[in-house]
Amino acid sequence: MPRLLEDKVAIVTGAAHGIGRGHALELAGHGARVVVNDVGASVRGEGEGKDADEVVDVIARRGGIAVADYSDVSDADRVEALFERTVSEFGRVDIVVNNAGIARDRMIWNMTPEDFDTVLRVHVRGSWLTTHHAARHWRERVKAGERLCGRVINTTSGAGLSGNTGQSNYATAKAAIVGLTLTTSLELYRLGVTVNAVGPGGMTRLTATMARGLVAFEPDELGADEYHQMDPAGSSPLVAWLASDEAQHVTGQVIRAIHDKIHLMGGWHEARTICSGERRWDATALGASIAADLFGTRAPGLR
Ligand SMILES: NC(=O)c1ccc[n+]([C@@H]2O[C@H](COP(=O)([O-])OP(=O)(O)OC[C@H]3O[C@@H](n4cnc5c(N)ncnc54)[C@H](O)[C@@H]3O)[C@@H](O)[C@H]2O)c1
Repeated sequence: MPRLLEDKVAIVTGAAHGIGRGHALELAGHGARVVVNDVGASVRGEGEGKDADEVVDVIARRGGIAVADYSDVSDADRVEALFERTVSEFGRVDIVVNNAGIARDRMIWNMTPEDFDTVLRVHVRGSWLTTHHAARHWRERVKAGERLCGRVINTTSGAGLSGNTGQSNYATAKAAIVGLTLTTSLELYRLGVTVNAVGPGGMTRLTATMARGLVAFEPDELGADEYHQMDPAGSSPLVAWLASDEAQHVTGQVIRAIHDKIHLMGGWHEARTICSGERRWDATALGASIAADLFGTRAPGLR
């Protein structure tokens, strides 16, 4: 099988379990040297551990090259040190996969401000910090005359794109990651860097907390030719391809990849427009026009 990422250097965050673990194994299988980052936290983002070591061992047993890193991606100093260490160990960074994530689901009336802040801190601040340090690293290399194929692959979800009950913190974070993706794709393309967001799926520790009866498993608990529609590694081939030089023309995209399907998601656009023809609308006239021409008679927003 031809390998897409020979000698590339990749950082995958939250790569000890679930979807990130699948990405780390896939990138290493395609020849990338991988920094397996993971703080070793619970699904709620509590505690820490060296869970990343085991993924490094699996990669090494399969003949790949990987090192473990236990940094919390929301800690600015630790992320800076992660980049310094990767450059000193492997010479450079080519690919950043921002996958680390936690969940603290509750209806909004029960959710605490801390639940909100902590979830945004890991997903949004974490993805911003790695992208910030990667961008600084890539800018220096371009200034030194290098031609780059840099890659950022962020992780969004259906909750961020369409909303999900009980996830006002998580959905906000995942929507913010789309904004980060769109903006940084514009800023970084001139450096030769693409930025895309993948919406994965899979039965993981994280999804197992959402509904009773759901079970989690790790990607490599399945045999090579075993098939499971909730395999957490289902999106990993897309991530590997987006990370490769072949994907240089794909940036600013949101792509969901679940099981055997890959969906290119369409962005916000003007669905319908009404125009008053005056300096501005009169509020009392709005109701009739909105009902007739924007929404019809059905209340908007309810599903
Ligand atoms: N499982 C799904 O169906 C699904 C769907 C859409 C999006 N996602 C997203 O995929 C990503 C991975 O989720 P998963 O389902 O594999 O969950 P998971 O709990 O199995 O894996 C998440 C990993 O991130 C690590 N992590 C948490 N906080 C961290 C931090 N501050 N710094 C570094 N590492 C940290 C955890 O230790 C864990 O190993 C998340 O961003 C999640 O929001 C998952």
